[in-house]
Amino acid sequence: MALICRVLPAFLVVLAALATPSNSHGDGKLTLRCHPDQAATLLQLKKSFSFLRYPNPLESWQDGTDCCLWEGVGCSNSSGRVTALELGGCGSCSQGLDPAIFDLTSLQVLDLSMNNFGPYSLPANGFERLASLTHLNLSYSGFVGQIPTGIGKLANLISLDLSNNYGSCSEDSFCSHVTKTHDFFQTELEVLNFEILVANLSSLRELYLDEVDMSSSRDWCHALAKSLPHLRVLSLSFCGLSGPICPSLSALHSLTMINLEGNFDIPAPFPVLFMDFLNLSVLQLAGTNLQGHMPNFSNTSSLETMMLDVTNFSFGKPGSFSNFKSLQALSLDVDFAFMEHQSSLGIHTSLRHLELTQMDSTKDLGLILSWIGDLQNLASLELRGWNFSWKSFSSVAKLKNLRSLSMYYCSFTKPSLPAIGNLVNLRSLVIHQCELNGPMPSAIGNLADLESLEITDYDFLGPIPSAIGNLRSLKSLEINAHGLLGPIPSSIGNLSSLISLAISTSEFSGPMPPAICNLSNLEVLEMSNSGFSGPIPYAVGLLKKLTSLRLQESSFSGSIPDSIFNLTRLIELDLSFNLLSGKTIFYILIMIT
Ligand SMILES: *[C@@H]1O[C@H](CO)[C@@H](O)[C@H](O)[C@H]1NC(C)=O
Ligand SMILES: *[C@@H]1O[C@H](CO)[C@@H](O)[C@H](O)[C@H]1NC(C)=O
Ligand SMILES: *[C@@H]1O[C@H](CO)[C@@H](O)[C@H](O)[C@H]1NC(C)=O
Ligand SMILES: *[C@@H]1O[C@H](CO)[C@@H](O)[C@H](O)[C@H]1NC(C)=O
Ligand SMILES: *[C@@H]1O[C@H](CO)[C@@H](O)[C@H](O)[C@H]1NC(C)=O
Ligand SMILES: *[C@@H]1O[C@H](CO)[C@@H](O)[C@H](O)[C@H]1NC(C)=O
Ligand SMILES: *[C@@H]1O[C@H](CO)[C@@H](O)[C@H](O)[C@H]1NC(C)=O
Ligand SMILES: *[C@@H]1O[C@H](CO)[C@@H](O)[C@H](O)[C@H]1NC(C)=O
Ligand SMILES: *[C@@H]1O[C@H](CO)[C@@H](O)[C@H](O)[C@H]1NC(C)=O
Ligand SMILES: *[C@@H]1O[C@H](CO)[C@@H](O)[C@H](O)[C@H]1NC(C)=O
Ligand SMILES: *[C@@H]1O[C@H](CO)[C@@H](O)[C@H](O)[C@H]1NC(C)=O
Repeated sequence: MALICRVLPAFLVVLAALATPSNSHGDGKLTLRCHPDQAATLLQLKKSFSFLRYPNPLESWQDGTDCCLWEGVGCSNSSGRVTALELGGCGSCSQGLDPAIFDLTSLQVLDLSMNNFGPYSLPANGFERLASLTHLNLSYSGFVGQIPTGIGKLANLISLDLSNNYGSCSEDSFCSHVTKTHDFFQTELEVLNFEILVANLSSLRELYLDEVDMSSSRDWCHALAKSLPHLRVLSLSFCGLSGPICPSLSALHSLTMINLEGNFDIPAPFPVLFMDFLNLSVLQLAGTNLQGHMPNFSNTSSLETMMLDVTNFSFGKPGSFSNFKSLQALSLDVDFAFMEHQSSLGIHTSLRHLELTQMDSTKDLGLILSWIGDLQNLASLELRGWNFSWKSFSSVAKLKNLRSLSMYYCSFTKPSLPAIGNLVNLRSLVIHQCELNGPMPSAIGNLADLESLEITDYDFLGPIPSAIGNLRSLKSLEINAHGLLGPIPSSIGNLSSLISLAISTSEFSGPMPPAICNLSNLEVLEMSNSGFSGPIPYAVGLLKKLTSLRLQESSFSGSIPDSIFNLTRLIELDLSFNLLSGKTIFYILIMIT
């Protein structure tokens, strides 16, 4: 995931503290519920965070005010001590976790997910002090290294989520500019001894360790069965697990969700024991090495979601799915050797979400796609590697209730394209790394309810049709394509709902259409890595909601309009590598704190 972090250009100017937060000091009328030592600890934590958000999410954290009223802080009514710290997704960057946090010894809920602490390790000592903790969420936070043994001592834990730590930034791509690279080589969390980690966590109901390296835990399956009898959610995708699913796992009969995706060394026939978990609703076994056949289950299952993208496994028995009456989401890899009877798999037409991956793009698809056309309740469809003939795409185009269509690595023929315009209920359309073999069809203008359109790494020959201006509901438009793309149609100025507009790659040319400056809801505007030329319109200063303006690596010329300094919400401004006159600005990062 380190790839999503951009490399820092040579010059970095940081203009800090543009806006001064209004200090709301205690006026004496308030009774401070908060313990001063707890407030001091929280303020020390605040100091360790940097924010790349407007407004600063911790504006309410001011010395002298009641810390129990601060954003994300919860206190016990009786003791006044801090029992909850919920700062998930607030856009903080921090060079590791400040051990001061372990002074909040009454914490029951700690959520620091979706922030950037990476790539630093969790403090080796201290977690054991948080003995009251029931919920710990450090997912998507960039931590690396070993999971501290102290977490295994938190006997009251009900929910533990350490998933998806990649040692790099989370959703804020520019976070990486602020945190220095610490340990370049460690890219994930690891658990050295899973048996010991979970031995005392017998209250645990939810365990998420996705992407944590568990490859040295050979006995993971028995450890789960023995130590975590109340588990309801088990999510261990991409953990490097090996060895078979053990029969003793049948003890965990309260499981409602099992995700073992991407553990390629779990070789097994379909684990029939899971079908005895009467409350199981999500079963995710994609990317495991399942072998043999899908059994023909005779008992009705509560399964709502099943993901089985496996290559060495057969679904081809008639009626295999007919007993999954609750199934709403299904993901399959399609290997044609096994799909002769696809029309009789027995999938109920109540299915709402379907993902299909074609393993061999040279094979004809006619039959399979006619089967899709019957799933009239499908709201969301994801296709990977499909090679469409005109006929087969028309089956997809029959899905009138489809809200979301995503296609990755697909190839089309030119005559099949306009059929996209039949999917009039689409809210979201993603076309990623596909071969279109023709221009974007004007029929796309029929999709009047479309809110998000993303066309990336995609080849098409021709301009963006001006019919795109009909997409009045569009909130997000991202185009990054190759071909003879030409100028942006000025009809884009009619997309008044747009919040984010990102257009890049060198084949675009011409000026920035002034009409863009009429899109008063825009928060993100990117026109980069392209042949865009001419001046940056003065009217860009009308886009008062902009937080990110990225026009780098294009051919914009003239001087930088002063009106840019009216954009007081701007957090990111990148005008580097253009033909702009005046001061040489390679890169400006403005932080509003
Ligand atoms: C704590 O006090 C607040 C406000 O008086 C009240 O709304 C809340 O229910 C109380 N919580 C508990 C757990 O007693
Ligand atoms: C942890 O936080 C993430 C991101 O905020 C959230 O998606 C996830 O559901 C949380 N985990 C648990 C167990 O609540
Ligand atoms: C589990 O708890 C017991 C009793 O409190 C203790 O003796 C043991 O060391 C703990 N095990 C681990 C792995 O923390
Ligand atoms: C299944 O869920 C129901 C309702 O929530 C519950 O009463 C029952 O005990 C659960 N069964 C198992 C095996 O956990
Ligand atoms: C597929 O499964 C069979 C056993 O069912 C096994 O012998 C073979 O090696 C597997 N092939 C692959 C590619 O995993
Ligand atoms: C179906 O359920 C019955 C009773 O609950 C059980 O005896 C039988 O083994 C189950 N069959 C399968 C195939 O799971
Ligand atoms: C599987 O079950 C369905 C319905 O229960 C039945 O119609 C079908 O014949 C069975 N298939 C096999 C191969 O046993
Ligand atoms: C798609 O199928 C056609 C005809 O079968 C074939 O010529 C073409 O190479 C295939 N495209 C891809 C990307 O595999
Ligand atoms: C924008 O919409 C108006 C009215 O709906 C229409 O008259 C105009 O032609 C559109 N502009 C462009 C450039 O499409
Ligand atoms: C911006 O909108 C105004 C009023 O809706 C319109 O008069 C003007 O022509 C538009 N400007 C551009 C450049 O489209
Ligand atoms: C920017 O602000 C100045 C005064 O603060 C104002 O005169 C000017 O018209 C504004 N420009 C834009 C494009 O909003």
